[in-house]
Amino acid sequence: MRRAKIISTGRYLPPKVVTNKDMEKLVPTSDEWIRERTGIEQRYFVDLKPGEELGVSDLAYEASKIALERAGMQPSDIDLIIFATLSPDYVFPGSGVLLGKNLGIPGVGALDVRNQCSGFIYALSVADAYIRAGIYDHILIAGAEIHSTGLEYNEHGRHVTVLFGDGAGVVILGPSEDEEHGILSTHLHADGRYALELCAINPGSRRVPRIYPEMLTDHSMYPHMNGREVFKHAVTKFPKAIMEAMEANNLTLDDVKLVIPHQANLRISEAVAQRMKLKPGQLYSNIQRYGNTTAASIPIALDEVLEQGMLERDDIVIMAAFGSGFTWASAAIRWS
Ligand code: UT7
Repeated sequence: MRRAKIISTGRYLPPKVVTNKDMEKLVPTSDEWIRERTGIEQRYFVDLKPGEELGVSDLAYEASKIALERAGMQPSDIDLIIFATLSPDYVFPGSGVLLGKNLGIPGVGALDVRNQCSGFIYALSVADAYIRAGIYDHILIAGAEIHSTGLEYNEHGRHVTVLFGDGAGVVILGPSEDEEHGILSTHLHADGRYALELCAINPGSRRVPRIYPEMLTDHSMYPHMNGREVFKHAVTKFPKAIMEAMEANNLTLDDVKLVIPHQANLRISEAVAQRMKLKPGQLYSNIQRYGNTTAASIPIALDEVLEQGMLERDDIVIMAAFGSGFTWASAAIRWS
């Protein structure tokens, strides 16, 4: 049986580091509040002046170059791009086509995935199915976000603004004839009853006129988050998603080398580790340095994990995500 495996990864963070102390100058908050509630110490923001332009497709291009070089591949070796983001360059077209343009591969298909914090695993699931079915050989998945230009820098939005960071992570997948290694399973879930608990609703197509002056002041273009509701669901859905990945492959926690969760909040990750009785170090966290980079958080984390030599052949990795939608998802991989 043909499987899909991860061949290479890359990450790119914009150069501007924003510490919690820097954040204190942008919104009424404190380093202490942010650390205590979220574990975050700093994040990266793009450094855009009015009139300048830089999009998630550009961040993803930088990460793609690294992943391609590590794989010893040319852009022309890529058969399909899948781009996961909630902060696309434009309302339309999607960022995948712009990444294809940056990579200089006209004609290569580009699919955008809009599943927010679960976007990377949704993209991985699609890529896995295409590769296993023999439809494509090499698929580049990008998860990239620029949150900083769309956050609300005031008291109303501060509980959201302090959480998020910009960045990009890229994964290149290819086929493997080895049945034992590669992506073993993916599971996707959604419950749209909670769509408005974590959302940015405007400009949306549900009303006329689509663009109206009050948008500038009614908060509707900024992310809205019912933090407590998100937290409550996250600490139950993450363990469920991880368990589903293990049960589907007859694995126990002892078999799992590493859990790489979407980096939503260190307190959520700690609650998950505690509920599941994970061993110290079994769950990877880097939100301290990046904040929540949404669709980019898992590929950035995986890239760091590989850079640190934390995965060896045969190791089992479980990825899990939860976020806006609500959506949640997991993937199990036996490293090759
Ligand atoms: O990928 C999914 C992404 N989202 C998440 O993971 C979020 C999950 N939720 C959370 O992590 C938490 O709900 C937050 C960290 C966002 C907020 O923590 P909380 O304990 O739910 O705080 P809260 O929003 O209920 O606010 C508590 C207090 C309020 O003050 P009062 O009413 O008690 O006087 C807020 O006004 O903290 C205040 N507050 C802040 N203070 C300083 C809210 N945001 C801030 C801030 N700095 N940034």
